Amino acid sequence: MCGIIGYVGKAEATPILLEGLRRLEYRGYDSSGVAILSDSASGEGSDIQTRKRSGRLDNLRTLLTENPAAGHCGISHTRWATHGEATDENAHPHLDQSGKLAMVHNGVIENYQVLKDHLEEEGHIFHSQTDSEVLAHLVGNAYEASTEKDQRRRLVEAVREALHLVSGTYGIVAMHEDSPGFLVGARFGSPLVVGLGKGEKFLASDVGAIVSHTTDAIYLRDRDLVWLTEDDFAIENVDGDAAEYEVSTVDFTPEQAEKGDYPHYMLKEIFEQPTSIQNAFRGRLVDDQASAILGGLGLTPRELRDVDRIVLCGCGTASHAAMVGEYLIEHLARIPTEVEIASEFRYRNPPLDKNTLVFVLSQSGETIDTLAAMREGQRKGHRVLGIVNSVGSTIARESDGGSYLYSGPEIGVAATKSFTSQVTLLTLLAILLGRMRHLSVDAGQQMLKELRDLPAKVGKILSQSEHIRQIALKYLDAKGMLFLGRQFNYPTALEGALKMKEISYIFASGHAAAELKHGIIALVSEETPSVFIMPKDSVYEKNVSTLEEVKARKGPVIAVTTEGSTELERIADDVIYIPPVSEMLSPILSVIPLQLLSYHFSVALGCDVDKPRNLAKSVTVE
Ligand code: AGP
Repeated sequence: MCGIIGYVGKAEATPILLEGLRRLEYRGYDSSGVAILSDSASGEGSDIQTRKRSGRLDNLRTLLTENPAAGHCGISHTRWATHGEATDENAHPHLDQSGKLAMVHNGVIENYQVLKDHLEEEGHIFHSQTDSEVLAHLVGNAYEASTEKDQRRRLVEAVREALHLVSGTYGIVAMHEDSPGFLVGARFGSPLVVGLGKGEKFLASDVGAIVSHTTDAIYLRDRDLVWLTEDDFAIENVDGDAAEYEVSTVDFTPEQAEKGDYPHYMLKEIFEQPTSIQNAFRGRLVDDQASAILGGLGLTPRELRDVDRIVLCGCGTASHAAMVGEYLIEHLARIPTEVEIASEFRYRNPPLDKNTLVFVLSQSGETIDTLAAMREGQRKGHRVLGIVNSVGSTIARESDGGSYLYSGPEIGVAATKSFTSQVTLLTLLAILLGRMRHLSVDAGQQMLKELRDLPAKVGKILSQSEHIRQIALKYLDAKGMLFLGRQFNYPTALEGALKMKEISYIFASGHAAAELKHGIIALVSEETPSVFIMPKDSVYEKNVSTLEEVKARKGPVIAVTTEGSTELERIADDVIYIPPVSEMLSPILSVIPLQLLSYHFSVALGCDVDKPRNLAKSVTVE
């Protein structure tokens, strides 16, 4: 998953491309580069000026300051390495054999080696280890061999011809010296959006890169192919036919895509949760029916009533939210529910019968494993519904319906507000399904009231950020960390561990607390603190016993528990209190201290919490 942005217009391209890359850095940040179509020194035609650097975007900025590239048309890329290390040579853009065509690529060309071997036999010389450079040479090859007289059409046809030779995924933008002010883009499996500015056009991996220039966007679909000039554009498909499209309005402001006064996107997004949780249930609570409404599901009450099994698919944090959903739906609606890791589901050939309802959960709506799981369910003839945050994303558009989180852009690589919003959405689903079955009016009303009280309770926990930071500072020498929870908070433990490991790089693992004595307890030591997620619920006493077992082995304990459970201060080393809430909704509150703990711990260690090493926000490659 990389970030791409292309520009054609009247302004200097370089600053626009650099600003776009800054907004896309969370998609990948191990190297970056730009290619600008500059007016040729001879005054005839144009030259491609390429600047590329490994490391963070500032390295590219420095290079461009030392060696500027002027021009009104350009492409750029920030990389998350798939083939080849993060070096200057492997950074995009890549040139074709002639050096007159430049391309950026997001995705994986699975048959690149056989294509590269063939091209090398024809005398092509490659300067990188990447699959993307092979694609650039393929397009250049087709361009050189073309008899098309119109240079622009020649580039469009060359891109089309090359894409028919590759297997894998791509989101690409290409340009050629023969066609100044002209960009060609195409997508299959990797997102690409067209920005329709006035007298300028954009192509980007997501709208966050261009929202400060235009809010009119076209989300390209798989197999779409587009060409752009500053005043015109056309969308075809890779088979040469005209393609339908619709112009959407971007649903967030540039400010929402910025950090504001926060030091990191992650902290901003943690603190946005009172609002994002409210956005998740706003307009979806139906008081007079003591139920919820999820209009986007596109299912009649009869169809919902007939559902006799539910499968929830996701990756990473989304799979943890799905696990909370499993407990919620089975508890409130008594419908057998199971969670499938999306990357497993797509290959498992799972037995699904006609009344099984499949959901895919994805913040980005572009995670390739989750996308593949959705397509696998649809291939089997099932209606697959999406619970997604990014409007217009591939999963949002290809699913058979679903619900948006309305969390606003989540830029920090570590998912935070999307988790609590996903759990909120799944709570609404559980209430809706439960009220069609055995959930009473009273129970339904109680749930709706508790949902409405959540934002204020989350705000109360957030006010403890400094207290949690002080706790984090006590454990900076930890060699590892265990996260333990039961029932609804077993998934919370998994989520807390993921947060900790992905931004601090220390070993952290989450477990069902009772599993401790089945091997995990061997890890307990004075250097390995255990974080217990133990609100005052039906299994609180069991958690106290497990906590005692850890203390008996000198393991430090941080306990997250309900206000008033002061007895824990006698046995735990540190206690973080959350407001009282029913057991079913406790993960939405108990995860907040874990998000803050991992954030403060990692910042204190000097880690880059918004762009952790080796990671990217949206995993659009397998
Ligand atoms: C979570 O903090 C990670 N960023 C990662 O596990 C993420 O949840 C996963 O890649 C799924 O992303 P999605 O929700 O955009 O599909």
